[in-house]
Amino acid sequence: MRLVDLLFPAEKFVERLLVWYGQSGRDLPWRNTRDPYRIWLSEIMLQQTTVAAVSNYYQRFLEHFPSVESLAAAPMTAVIDLWAGLGYYTRARNLHSAAKIVVDSYSGDFPADVEALQALPGIGRSTAGAILALAFDQQAPILDANVRRVLCRIGALQQPPRSTDAEKQLWHWSEQLTPLSKVHDYTQAIMDLGAMVCVPRQPLCEECPVLELCQAHDLGLEQQLPLKQVKKKLPNRHESALLINVAGRYLARRRMAEGFLGGLWEFPSVAFAEDDNSAEKAKFLLADFGLEGQLELLGSVRHTYSHFHLESSVYHVSVDCHGLVTEGENHWFSPEKLSNLALHGAHKKVLAKIYSKEK
Ligand code: ADE
Repeated sequence: MRLVDLLFPAEKFVERLLVWYGQSGRDLPWRNTRDPYRIWLSEIMLQQTTVAAVSNYYQRFLEHFPSVESLAAAPMTAVIDLWAGLGYYTRARNLHSAAKIVVDSYSGDFPADVEALQALPGIGRSTAGAILALAFDQQAPILDANVRRVLCRIGALQQPPRSTDAEKQLWHWSEQLTPLSKVHDYTQAIMDLGAMVCVPRQPLCEECPVLELCQAHDLGLEQQLPLKQVKKKLPNRHESALLINVAGRYLARRRMAEGFLGGLWEFPSVAFAEDDNSAEKAKFLLADFGLEGQLELLGSVRHTYSHFHLESSVYHVSVDCHGLVTEGENHWFSPEKLSNLALHGAHKKVLAKIYSKEK
């Protein structure tokens, strides 16, 4: 494919953006540091999560793990538990694995090299670029969700932005715009522009410092771009999930460390085929714990993971003993404790059924 250049000089864009950033940029907790560990942590937390949700987690995480060495030395489950509520827990597992590699292979110093950074778990090209630009002042382009949107509009890209060709074009524009000097501020600035002005719906074009350079605006396409991505059709999976209540406490267990949703917490559950009877499955699962009781169907919840939808039929049962449940990674929790537990996404919704029952 032939790459297209932007129609204006990059310096014009950078200059206007930096003036705007000086006046309107956000003061965020990870912006006053050049410590690669802190910058890496913030970038991982900010993947798929908003600034508002990240700020408190970031501070609390650093109190527990002030250095990459302390993070590498912790058990993975401690990292998962501290991540509880942020979601996308693969990030927490990757964070922990990457910390160990940085300590073991790089004596605790993050490598200032795009390929070495990208070889670490959880770091893609854009996160590597952000670390290089923000911690090491290297002229490294980024292409996170905010920047992607800004560039789709600036260059009026009329292709679905995740296609291979669009990706190449967007990286090319990002490279074209990223300056050699002031790359730290530039990188923060273009992220802020995407987060504060060039927002997904109803962009605030009247506040945009680079409006005159924006081809989407010229063409009246700022509301239409970026083009919508066609969603993949995902298969459905089914399970029965049990809320087993003994004196107001509920049974939850930790999933094995390896594999899908590894290290996260969940309620006892059993998968079933679409035409199976969910109540039967729930009863057998209860019997596996040596327990019997009146199962009450509280309804079902649906949650989408990257490669399937999960539909959970939620059953509540009150029993008066712990049956065959052995301690270990099985625990009985009050609803308040469950709220702070790193339950996987579908079972966060299962938990909400306890509250709708108690109302
Ligand atoms: N999103 C990703 N990285 C960010 C950063 N450093 N500041 C604000 N939002 C971001």
